[in-house]
Amino acid sequence: MRLQRYLAASGVASRRRSEELIVAGLVRVNGRVVRELGTSVEDKDVVEFGGRIVAPALEPAYIIMNKPLGVVTTMRDPEGRRTIADVLHRNGWERRVVPVGRLDYDTAGVLLLTDDGALAHVLTHPRFGVEKTYRAILRGRLSTEQVAEMQRGMKLDDGRAQPARLRVVAARRDASSVDVTIHEGRNRQVRRMFEELGHPVIGLTRLHFGPIGLGTLAPGEIREATKREVSALRVIADVAKAEEGEES
Ligand code: URA
Repeated sequence: MRLQRYLAASGVASRRRSEELIVAGLVRVNGRVVRELGTSVEDKDVVEFGGRIVAPALEPAYIIMNKPLGVVTTMRDPEGRRTIADVLHRNGWERRVVPVGRLDYDTAGVLLLTDDGALAHVLTHPRFGVEKTYRAILRGRLSTEQVAEMQRGMKLDDGRAQPARLRVVAARRDASSVDVTIHEGRNRQVRRMFEELGHPVIGLTRLHFGPIGLGTLAPGEIREATKREVSALRVIADVAKAEEGEES
């Protein structure tokens, strides 16, 4: 970004006035006075005006990761396992973001990360129940009664689960593939639901988190959310806030 634009974006002055400040020798870049108007600056450069470091306000970041298997959903792991911070760094992402909710070590798929704390709070709050869809590979084949039980809301050891939506993608006697949509985010919930029915999960991938889908993102890759995805997330947050307001 050109220096005069950088100063304007940092709220120092208008672009025209910033040009005057530069020419007058009042702006330093990385400790040196810079008088050339075309000078280009990047995030890593330190820009000073009037003895103070100035920087443009950052837009919140919304990152979508296809979390690979064998990665913990934390930024640091005392046990030394691979973390989502490692995946971010490998993709050249250095800005601080936090995961919105979590996926198990042995679950792959869509994970949203952001530095927008308010949005993260709403999206993870159990009351606001963002829809999440998982593809589960199970041992065995679900009976019609078992499908109905999950759809009614089955009993788990930490209380009854809310009704789930199910789509059997493929079913063989020894293994099946099932898409399951839930609104809650209890610990290992999908695995526990199928386990309870006698069909252990042997593979789990999150396909959707609210309006965000996996698309063509390969495991271990990240991308920034599109404008449309960010607006869809904001709609969820606004609706949740409005509901909260009505209740209080
Ligand atoms: N349910 C699970 O069992 N595991 C996950 O990672 C997410 C949902």
